[in-house]
Amino acid sequence: MGISDQNEGDAIRNAIEWIREHLELRESTSAESLYDHMASQSFEQLCVIYVPFDASIRGHFKDRGQIIDYAVLCGPGRVLDFGPGDGWPSLLMAPMVEEVVGVDGSIRRVEVCSANAKRLGVGNASFVHVPPVEQTPDLSATLSELCRVLKPGGRLRMHYESLSYYAGGQERELSVGGEEATSDLMIYHRHIEQEYVDHYLLTFDIPEKTVGEVFARRGVEPPNATPEVLGDLRPHVTDAATWTTQHPSCRLWLRMLREVGLSSAQATYDGGWFAERLFDGLPEGQRPRQIDAVDEMLRPLVEVVVMMERPPLAAPGEWGPWITAVK
Ligand SMILES: C[S@@+](CC[C@H](N)C(=O)[O-])C[C@H]1O[C@@H](n2cnc3c(N)ncnc32)[C@H](O)[C@@H]1O
Repeated sequence: MGISDQNEGDAIRNAIEWIREHLELRESTSAESLYDHMASQSFEQLCVIYVPFDASIRGHFKDRGQIIDYAVLCGPGRVLDFGPGDGWPSLLMAPMVEEVVGVDGSIRRVEVCSANAKRLGVGNASFVHVPPVEQTPDLSATLSELCRVLKPGGRLRMHYESLSYYAGGQERELSVGGEEATSDLMIYHRHIEQEYVDHYLLTFDIPEKTVGEVFARRGVEPPNATPEVLGDLRPHVTDAATWTTQHPSCRLWLRMLREVGLSSAQATYDGGWFAERLFDGLPEGQRPRQIDAVDEMLRPLVEVVVMMERPPLAAPGEWGPWITAVK
């Protein structure tokens, strides 16, 4: 759920203060508190991996543009996918390259990716667990390591979530969710200028529906987690965790990539951006329907688009320009 007005932002700030004052917060990591608990981190929405490709869906068209982008930039050889989640882009790139190795900080994610590879019959993708350098307290160390394993002339292609996307209303976000017997309350506190996010996660021993009833009894609903609601929920808290993630802007990524020794780093247009525009520009009757035909149409165009440099600024509604760096 998004935050639509100042009052909701203030309510969440008050909730954070209450949590910090009344609960013993445990320092955690996103791998441990988030990714290790998700059966799917994409809500089983990834096309091809979980749902059949449908060329009439704009997001599926965009997805093919992004996959082809990664394949074009990385070349046909061996690819390392850092943080594959449910197997994206690894499993979709695999048919276009010699081999993909996905490296993830969450054991659960490695298990899910491996199971997805097996289910889809993808034989040239494997997944490896690395202890998370948490997303990540030492970005330079992580980038240095990625730089080290690149072969000379090898390319790093990345996309990332920069925080300008959330400015003007989503600086703080609070939601309640859960699966069956237990539930949780999650707060994102996005420090947009400072480029990091504080996360707070409370786990309850009661289902989401019962948590909703606690809110209702106090006459409010999320994100208005008032001190009264939090007080009522307190006996049900089985865990209170916090962690911080860093989210550099494009400019900072470019600087860090150059600092760790990559010979060039630049922001470019990306295949997903282009595919969306192509989807919008083509009359429905002229859009190919089969996945292979969509790829065939997109590939030569994406090959050009990914070479087009663009300013290192996120456009409204996007996370940030994709980046190419070369060793
Ligand atoms: C937001 S998900 C993205 C998943 C997928 N690439 C996608 O786009 O759908 C981030 C993934 O990176 C992993 N991750 C985060 N920080 C990491 C780190 N420092 N080292 C290794 N993996 C990390 C998480 O476990 C998770 O699977």
